[in-house]
Amino acid sequence: MIKMKDILDEKDKRLRNISKEVTFPLSQKDKDTINDMIEYLHDSQIEELSEKYNLRPGMGMAAIQLGINKRYFVVVHEVTKEDDEEQKFDTYVIINPVMISHSEEEIAADAGEGCLSVNRDVEGYVKRYARVKFEGYDIDGNKISIRAREELAIAFQHELDHLNGILFIDKITNNNDGIRTI
Ligand code: NI
Repeated sequence: MIKMKDILDEKDKRLRNISKEVTFPLSQKDKDTINDMIEYLHDSQIEELSEKYNLRPGMGMAAIQLGINKRYFVVVHEVTKEDDEEQKFDTYVIINPVMISHSEEEIAADAGEGCLSVNRDVEGYVKRYARVKFEGYDIDGNKISIRAREELAIAFQHELDHLNGILFIDKITNNNDGIRTI
């Protein structure tokens, strides 16, 4: 189980490393890590569990945030609808992700972005593409292609940045330059 203390803080220089391509088959350790990441992200978004286990809520995590210098990330995206009785989530695991295309349109998260490695509120906008197409591999080494838009697209771009040693605070601006906020 991943605890808050396992997640590297923004001051940790390892977060600035460029993560390395993963070779297949994946090690059992990496598979276990991915499952732990899914569990953390899922539980952290459920109030009862986040309080019980003291988890700061997050929807995405890159391996490097655990000090693992490998190119993969997990996003657990809440898709609960109004009439759902319990919270629902879509889970994405992308290994060796590449953003192969994107919209011209840019957006920014209205409330600012958050990051499990940045344990403070940071105001401002981070410009992201509104729609993206990512390719990569699943946990079994099968090639995958995923389209994402809006909040999910922001999450994918945020996590891809982590694999390149970039934090959202590097990209923050005080002005949204008229781009759409969500
Ligand atoms: Ni982050």
